[in-house]
This record gives sequence, structure tokens and C-alpha cells, in this order.
Amino acid sequence: MLPAVATSIAGQNSPGSSLTRPNTAGSLPSGNKVADTRLTTKTVESPYCGSARAASSECSHASIEADYPGRRTAAAGGTLAGPPNPVAILLPPFEAVPSPRMKIGPHVLPNALLVAPMAGVTDRPFRQLCRRLGAGYALSEMVTSRRDLQQSRKTSRRTDHRGEPGPVAVQIVGVDPSEMADAARHNIDRGAEIIDINMGCPAKKVCSAWAGSALMRNEPLALAIVEAVVAACAPHGVPVTLKMRTGWSERERNALQLARAAESAGVAALTIHGRTREQGYKGAAEYDTVAAVKAAVSIPVVANGDIDSPHKARAVLRRTGADALMIGRAAQGRPWIFREIAHYLATGDEAPAPATAEVAQWLHEHLLDHYALYGEDSGVRSARKHIGCAVRALPGGEAFRAVMNTLTDADAQLRALLGFFDELASRHPRLPRQDAANDAQALQCA
Ligand SMILES: Cc1cc2nc3c(=O)[nH]c(=O)nc-3n(C[C@H](O)[C@H](O)[C@H](O)COP(=O)(O)O)c2cc1C
Repeated sequence: MLPAVATSIAGQNSPGSSLTRPNTAGSLPSGNKVADTRLTTKTVESPYCGSARAASSECSHASIEADYPGRRTAAAGGTLAGPPNPVAILLPPFEAVPSPRMKIGPHVLPNALLVAPMAGVTDRPFRQLCRRLGAGYALSEMVTSRRDLQQSRKTSRRTDHRGEPGPVAVQIVGVDPSEMADAARHNIDRGAEIIDINMGCPAKKVCSAWAGSALMRNEPLALAIVEAVVAACAPHGVPVTLKMRTGWSERERNALQLARAAESAGVAALTIHGRTREQGYKGAAEYDTVAAVKAAVSIPVVANGDIDSPHKARAVLRRTGADALMIGRAAQGRPWIFREIAHYLATGDEAPAPATAEVAQWLHEHLLDHYALYGEDSGVRSARKHIGCAVRALPGGEAFRAVMNTLTDADAQLRALLGFFDELASRHPRLPRQDAANDAQALQCA
């Protein structure tokens, strides 16, 4: 019985403390002013980058390198190793970033840090965890538009939004305009308040049917889908957003063109992952295209790709002038990254690492929600990827993961996890720092 497990584990592992849900939601303080004194070209509105410059040289390579030294960036086009970049020395002291609210249609988000949709990862329990730990918004995993699959167990789970804080946002994927319009209506009936169209997924299963990022190669079809979905959502007052890549390939980089057309067709916000479909997840995300899109449209633009630390978040905001940031892989195993970023953007200080016991508590609660959604058998198996991501970079994490992957019931999994964290907490009251997670290993931390 799962609740009994929860009680016994709570009592056993956290004497004197109850596993109530922590009040940890993150949001940025408002009212801060940016008084950046450097050169400007075009000033754009942005929640975090109030005086950010779209595609300006000032908010470009130099600042991203300075904000994120030691990293290879596409914008920089090289490896930034060795002595600190001299530009960093010229930067003005950190200034808090302002927080005008990010809006999607009528929905004002509590902040502009978004959880990326990740099929098989960002299910409702994980989205809720991220929201509690500082994300202002979370998109569902992609949901097929195919009518014959709408009642499947997988799709039904993905469209179960019970207890999810609003606005509930569902991403749909497909190739047929009328089917996509139906899918939008179907999901609105099931509680969706925002519909997102997937034009970013590079997976073969999706692309062989010309869905996901493959649609970027067929602009007329892509636009027909956008128009059909917008028309289906409009009577319900539901805004439509679009998530895409920079293009199909290096030579077919048409995000800007598609963004303009989508805005004209009534799309309320755009997310750009700074890679082409051809790249998959290889190489570094580039932000020039995001900056160019931001400069060209009036609707909110969300920057996505390789944002894996508060410093990188600030650098990407400065570089792109984007209205918001979307974070995917770096939140796996580290969902508190949202509040860390919010804290850094607001203060310039790095938040201390969370208490190890606190992390154990979040994970415990997450797993209970996870088992409740999937059932014990399937839940124990699918929880392994979340646990794996959470422990893999911690001392003893790999060895623990190997053992944990052999456990087949929820009680044993929870006990093992909490035992691991109890032991870790005795040596490290605060979670030892983990490295950025955006690498091939992160994709396989299951
Ligand atoms: C496991 C996994 C599943 C994903 N599923 C989706 C999806 O369902 N819909 C989508 O638009 N993008 C999906 N993506 C792409 C992410 O939303 C995001 O654009 C990408 O990971 C880059 O952001 P990041 O560097 O912050 O992870 C997925 C990515 C991963 C790693």
C-alpha cells in the first residue's frame, strides 16, 4: 500500500519532521530597474532583459562569453578556455533584472521561467514539482493528434491534468490540419487553457510522418496547421503557441520566416530551440536566430536550448532579448534550477545549494505523485529515470543507481532512495554541487 509506505518512510527517515509540501514556489521580485549603461541599438521589452538589445553587438557574443566563461558557445564559435575573457572585466556590476510578467494571451505567468516539454519526463507530477520549485509555466509532453490514439492509455495519462496549476498547456503534434484542430478542441474539453503546436521534435517516429520539426520544411502545411488550430481555439478564448527549431538544417534555417507567418496567423507566443532538426541535440545551441526572431515579431519569444545554470540563463537573456527562458534537460534531477535562476537574475547572487534533506523530501513527494499516476508496477519502472537523474552526479550516485534499478516495488524503491539521501545528508548537509546536465549522459540518465 503506497500511503503506508509514505508514512513509514517519513517516520523512519525524517524523525520529527513531517513530509508536508514545502512552500518553495519561486517568483521574482518585481520593480527592479536595469540601468545598463552600455551601447544600445534596438531596445526591446523583456521580463528579464528590460533593456536588452535584440541582435545588438553589445548584447551578443561579448556578453554571452563574459557571462558564461569557459563554455563553448555557438555564438562565440569557439572554445573559451584559458584566462578570463577581458570583456568580463569591463562589464558593469550585476544589476537585478526587472520582472514585468510574461503573458500568453490572457494568461499572466508568475515568472518567465518555463519547463520544456519532454516526452517521457515532464509528466504531470514532474511539471508540478518544477512549478513548486520556481517554474512559472509548464507545457505537457506532446500529445498525438491522431484520433485513433486519443483514448490510448499513454495519451489519456498525458491529458490528465487533475490538480495541475493553471494555465494548463497542452502540446499537440501531428500533420493534418483538421486532425490538429480536432485535437486542440479535444484537449480544450479536457482542461487545456493554452494549446502549443510541436514543430521542434526531431524524433524519427514523429518526423517520418512529417510532424514535429519536419513541418518546418513544408511551410504551407505548417501554416495550414497553425491556421486550423488557431481557428479551433479562438471560440474558446484559448491562445495558441508554437515551439520550433531554427530550421531543418544549416542551409534551411527558416525560423524567422515561419515566426512572422505564425504571428500573422494569430499565434500568441513562440519558443525557439536554438538548433536545427539536422543537429538533433548535437553541438551547441545558437541564440542569434532567437535574437533575430525576437527583433522581428511583437509576440513573446521564448529562448530554449542548453540553458543549464543561472549564469547561462542570464547570458541567454542578454544575448537574445527573449521574453522568457525554457529549460528542459537541466531540470531533470535538478528541478530547483528554476528558483536558482530566478534568485540569480533578481540578485546577482548564487543561491546556496538546497539542503540534502529538503531534496530527499521533494523526491519522496514526487515519487508518491508518480506512483499515483502510473500505478505501482509501471510507476516503479518509470520512476527510475527521475531517480537516476537526481543521483547520478552525487557521491556514490552511480553505484546506488545500479542497485536501485533492480528494485521492483515502490516500498523498496522509496526506502532505498531515502536511505541514500539520509546517508548523504550526514556527510553533506547541503547537496554537493552538481555539474551542468546538458550532455549526452543527461539524456540517458534513466
Ligand atoms: C527526452 C526529451 C523529450 C522531449 N520531448 C519533447 C516534446 O514532447 N515536445 C517538444 O516540443 N520538445 C521535446 N523535447 C525538446 C525539449 O523541449 C527542448 O526543446 C530541448 O531539450 C532543448 O532544451 P534543453 O537544452 O533545455 O533541454 C524533448 C527533449 C528531450 C531531451
